[in-house]
Amino acid sequence: MKKIAIFASGNGSNAENIIRYFQMPGRDGRVELVVTNRRDAPVVGRAARLGVDCEIFDREQFRDGARVIELLERRGIDVVVLAGFLLMVAPPLIARYRGRIVNIHPSLLPKFGGKGMYGRHVHEAVVAAGEKVTGITIHHVNEHYDDGAVIFTASVAVEPTDSADDVARKVQELEQEHFAAVIDREFIAPSRQID
Ligand code: GRF
Repeated sequence: MKKIAIFASGNGSNAENIIRYFQMPGRDGRVELVVTNRRDAPVVGRAARLGVDCEIFDREQFRDGARVIELLERRGIDVVVLAGFLLMVAPPLIARYRGRIVNIHPSLLPKFGGKGMYGRHVHEAVVAAGEKVTGITIHHVNEHYDDGAVIFTASVAVEPTDSADDVARKVQELEQEHFAAVIDREFIAPSRQID
């Protein structure tokens, strides 16, 4: 059974969906741990309700990385999933999990990626630029923001009348539809046909 840690800073809708997906019978992995930098983030309550341990570190501890790595190793974590995690991941942690650390970005990278491009900012920029299409990018994580090799993309039309909220909703639907299954296919059970 492969063990997944999810790093999340906020709402945690992706985290919840991934936890639930891997709680279904017959999976070869499970979410062992949620890691966050915000004690008051909704993801903390979601993890608790779903019976998943949640660990909180401060900005400095994430920057340094040593205690986070120590936790991941102690809990036997195989795969690290960034799902709305807003801090930089320490380079030693990225090195330790190279090829086994994945992020989801709510646009079609390289468009609307990079520093400051997260959450609402992304969807507002998409609308302001008059884009006709947007989507999600699931990618490996390296030492640079939104720059690792792309694993999967899915796209959705942006209508001229769409607000940033409309775009956010559409993108969130794509996240819910694909993120857990892509993690499964890529990192947990690559040799198996996934439904
Ligand atoms: C998602 O849009 C994800 O793509 C992005 O941050 C958002 C997190 O949402 N990186 P949630 O916390 O999973 O609800």
